[in-house]
Order: sequence, then C-alpha cells, then structure tokens
Amino acid sequence: MSSLQAPRGTFDVLPPDAAQRLVLEEQARRILGAAGYGRIETPTYEATELFARGVGEATDIVQKEMYSFDDGAGRSMTLRPEGTAPICRAYIEHGMHKQPQPVKLWYLSSFFRAEAPQKGRYRQFWQVGAEAIGAAGPETDAELIVLLYDLLQAVGVKGLQLRLSSLGTAQTRREYREELAAYLHAHEDGLSHEVIGRIDLNPMRAFDADDARTRETMRGAPLMLDRLAPDDAEHFESVKALLNDAGIRYELDPTLVRGLDYYARTLWEFTSDALGAQSAVGGGGRYDGLIEQLGGPPTPGVGWAAGVERMLLSAGQQPIAANVVDLFVAIPPSSGEGASQAAFKLANDARRAGLSAQLELAGRGLKGQLKHADRLGARYVAIIGDPMQISLKDMEAGDQTELAPESVIPTILRGSRIA
Ligand code: HAM
Repeated sequence: MSSLQAPRGTFDVLPPDAAQRLVLEEQARRILGAAGYGRIETPTYEATELFARGVGEATDIVQKEMYSFDDGAGRSMTLRPEGTAPICRAYIEHGMHKQPQPVKLWYLSSFFRAEAPQKGRYRQFWQVGAEAIGAAGPETDAELIVLLYDLLQAVGVKGLQLRLSSLGTAQTRREYREELAAYLHAHEDGLSHEVIGRIDLNPMRAFDADDARTRETMRGAPLMLDRLAPDDAEHFESVKALLNDAGIRYELDPTLVRGLDYYARTLWEFTSDALGAQSAVGGGGRYDGLIEQLGGPPTPGVGWAAGVERMLLSAGQQPIAANVVDLFVAIPPSSGEGASQAAFKLANDARRAGLSAQLELAGRGLKGQLKHADRLGARYVAIIGDPMQISLKDMEAGDQTELAPESVIPTILRGSRIA
C-alpha cells in the first residue's frame, strides 16, 4: 500500500456512501425548500477575523480548532469551522436586509475543525444547516426547531432527544455570569481546580464538569432560566407553547452550553442515544446581535446545523436501492468490423432514450462480460457480434432474440418500462 493516505480525521466518500448522502440531501432540499428556504453556498475559507469576531475569541473553536493560513499576501485566512458567521457576512455584503424579511437560507457544506478525531468527530465534516435572518418572533425559532426535527425523522435518526434552553439577551447574561461567578468564588472549596481556573473566563462551563464534588456544588448554583428578563421569558414561553402545539417533546436544560458565543435567547440541541460520546446530532439557536457585531444593521437571526456523518451514523445503514442497469452492451472479442462503433452508438442512444446503459470497457471475454452484466443486475444484454444483427438477451427470462440495430431500444423500452 502506498504511504499516502487521507489526512487524519478526514475520509473519502465512496459511491455507496455517496448514494446515502444524496438521499439525505434530497430530504433536506424537500423539507427546507417546502418551507421557503433557498440554498446558499459561501467560500470554503474566509478572513480569520470573521470567525474571531463572529464565533468568539474565547471559544475552543477560535482558540484551538481553526485551520488558518497566510493567503500569500499577508492576510490570515481560515477554513470555515461553521456556517453561521459566513452567512451573516454574505447577508451584510449583499444588502439582503433590503429583501423581504426574514431571508431564509439553507446549506449543505463541509466544515473544518482541528479536533481530536474519534467516532462521529472529524476534522473535515459536513453539515446541513438553515438560517432565518431578519425575524425576531418566537414563531421563527419554533419553525426552525420543527424543521430540524422533521429532517432528523426523515433521515431515520434513532433515540432522539431535544434539550432546550434560553440564554436571555447579552445584558441579562452578563449580569447572570457575574452572579454565577460570585457563587463559584464563594464555593471554591467545593470545586475542582480546573473549574476554579475557568471561573472568570467562562463560569457556565462549571455546569459541564464531570467531577462529583463540583457537580454537587453546582446543584445550588443560580440558573440562567430563572434570571430571564420579562420579555425574554415571554419569548421563551411562546417558543415552548408552539413546540407543545406541534407535538415536539423537549427537556428543559438550563445548563445547556454550546461552543459558540453568538447565541442569545433560544438555544437547543438534539442528541441521539445511538451515538457514543459525540451524541449531539444537531443544534442551534438565536443570534440576534451577530450581524451588528459583524458591521451590519441590527438584525435578528436564528438557525441550526446538523452533522451529516452523525445523522447517518445514528440512522444506521439503510440499504439504498442499487442503480438500475437496463442494458449492458457486450462486444465478443471475435466480433467483426464496425462492432465496437455500433456498441458505442447503442450505449449512447440508449442513454439518450432515458435508459441506463453500460458498455464493456475492460476487454473481457464474452463469458466474463455476461458474468459482469449479471453482477451489475443488468436487465438486458445486447451482444454485438455483427453490427447489423444484434442479439438481445433478456437476463430475467433467459431468452435471446436477433434484432436489427434500430429495434433494440424500442424492444427494451416495451419490455422494461411499459410492463
Ligand atoms: P455546532 O453545534 O458547532 O453548531 O455544529 C452543529 C453540528 O455539526 C453538531 O451537532 C454535530 O452534529 C456536527 N459537528 C460539529 N463538529 C463536528 C465534527 N468535528 N465532526 C463531525 N460532526 C461535527 C454550529 O456549527 C452552528 N453554526 C449551528 C447554528 C446555525 N447555530 C445557528 N445557526
């Protein structure tokens, strides 16, 4: 084997996997398209500053997971670790605030994070995502959660759970963080060293600690959900009521933290118990301050992204119907002059007539060609010994007819399509 391999944490998508991904893409297009979301694609890399400002300087993503490089002209660029900041950049750049609001967009793209690879966690991975920019009302949050739920259901993700929370606005969150930090400082003897070290950087992370003593201490900690300002609380109540009406079950999780700094108000994550440690299959939230932070007009926004590999992993391998092969065109090695041209023409004509057709390309003997056609599941094999007289073998019935070249395609169309 060659010593050249796909880089650690990356993978090749081979045809059987590609077929599954195509089905997933079709489902996303159907579900999101029906709700008025238009497809968007942004560049694979952006100015590093976009992610530093958008995702947040203090996040793990910006601090240790970005693939950044010099573009050769002294500017730092970064392979996109996520899609929300680039889409907000595009919204501003193309003046989309002048369009009817909200602007609803969806994407299926690859993203890059320098994480330690493990099952369900890669360095290049794919996400389906949706963003609704320019609408502040709770209906938009609920619509997006329902769409993500519908997609996960359509893909067949098993053991789904929805965790839901609200972060309030930046102002309330700041006040809450101070209150939480004060609580943590007052209870340092009940916390691990790691947590103590992070109190002033990110006190919320204390809720994630594995250490038993810390967990016990955190039981008495103040919760963000109890500190929401009245209008944030009302917004959150409406989101919950709409989800209840839609029959979507959720669990309130006041300690839910996501690794991106742009969130405000509603926040959610779907997990699947069919996944191991990397159980988050998709998540999102509201990011009302992000566009302004990137230099645009004050604009609300909300959205989500779901990992393609995690969706497929937790759905299990679902058999994808093999490609139908209507016709295999065989050329016996002993065939006369003009046979290979006739074979080439027949395969092309068959494809243009809407059939799926394959031509012998490997120089096999006739027996080998028939075996190969059988392996492909071909319905008919045309054997071109003499270009003027073609033997058409019906692989299901087993019989064989001699036909003039122009009769081959009509015969197949009658036999295989208008059955
Ligand atoms: P995120 O939670 O960082 O959110 O990523 C969304 C999903 O991408 C995760 O739930 C997971 O399924 C998948 N994912 C993340 N990292 C990896 C990885 N290293 N390998 C495989 N899959 C991964 C965002 O990216 C936000 N932009 C979502 C959003 C959109 N919020 C608002 N709008």
